[in-house]
Amino acid sequence: MVDVVQLVEHRIVVPSVVGSSPIIHPERSRSFPGAFFLVYLQKRLIAMKKLVVIDACIRGEESRTRRIAEPIIGELAKRYEITRYDLTKMPMEPLTPETYAQRAAGIIPAWALEAARTLAEADRIVVVAPFWDMSFPAVVKVFFEHISLFDITFTDNGRTCVGKCKCEKVMYITTRGMNIPTGDAREQGSSYLHALSELWDLGTVLTVAAWNMDYSSPAEIEEKIDNTTRFGLRLAASF
Ligand SMILES: Cc1cc2nc3c(=O)[nH]c(=O)nc-3n(C[C@H](O)[C@H](O)[C@H](O)COP(=O)(O)O)c2cc1C
Repeated sequence: MVDVVQLVEHRIVVPSVVGSSPIIHPERSRSFPGAFFLVYLQKRLIAMKKLVVIDACIRGEESRTRRIAEPIIGELAKRYEITRYDLTKMPMEPLTPETYAQRAAGIIPAWALEAARTLAEADRIVVVAPFWDMSFPAVVKVFFEHISLFDITFTDNGRTCVGKCKCEKVMYITTRGMNIPTGDAREQGSSYLHALSELWDLGTVLTVAAWNMDYSSPAEIEEKIDNTTRFGLRLAASF
């Protein structure tokens, strides 16, 4: 069984230590006087709510979706303890007859169990994924398939399934190549998350999207990225 827990980045941002950077710099954190820092960190951790970032930006540094997401995540990191799952680094496969049989026998990969519990305990979730084949890259569905675990992310009440997640709000950040606005029938990213929110009880789903990216001039693309980032930052203020 492949254990990918080590691929999950736990990032704790302490604004007074890292300044305006959206990402923690552990090297600099360590230079903070030891005992004082630990007490400070402990207090921050107790106070901070938890946010999970699910990142499926396959094009990495080239990703326009990630460019929009990073400043928004940086803003949210001032108020939330962030756990980040970079799905591009997690060697996941869809369930097979063998792995399904193992699951039915109660054998769950350690990483999936840990991720399901982390997600169920999160106060907020941010999904960062480009629009592929009218939805997400398949790795997002594979991730959800692995962590949709009975009595962790959902259960049943004898009549139907009911969610067990603590999350109150989900932010879905995406960019689409075609001229497909959010809510269009061809847009199956946000509609899927709405459905998943019903199953897991994740609360409101807010979509931050730019579209027509593959049919716009470079200047228009930059303008769309700027406008969408600003929109996301406004949402982040009350997220
Ligand atoms: C494999 C693949 C599939 C795609 N499928 C669609 C699609 O179905 N509809 C669409 O509007 N754009 C589609 N696109 C275009 C992307 O949504 C668009 O270029 C987006 O801005 C890419 O985001 P990124 O820069 O974060 O990778 C696809 C792109 C790729 C690479």
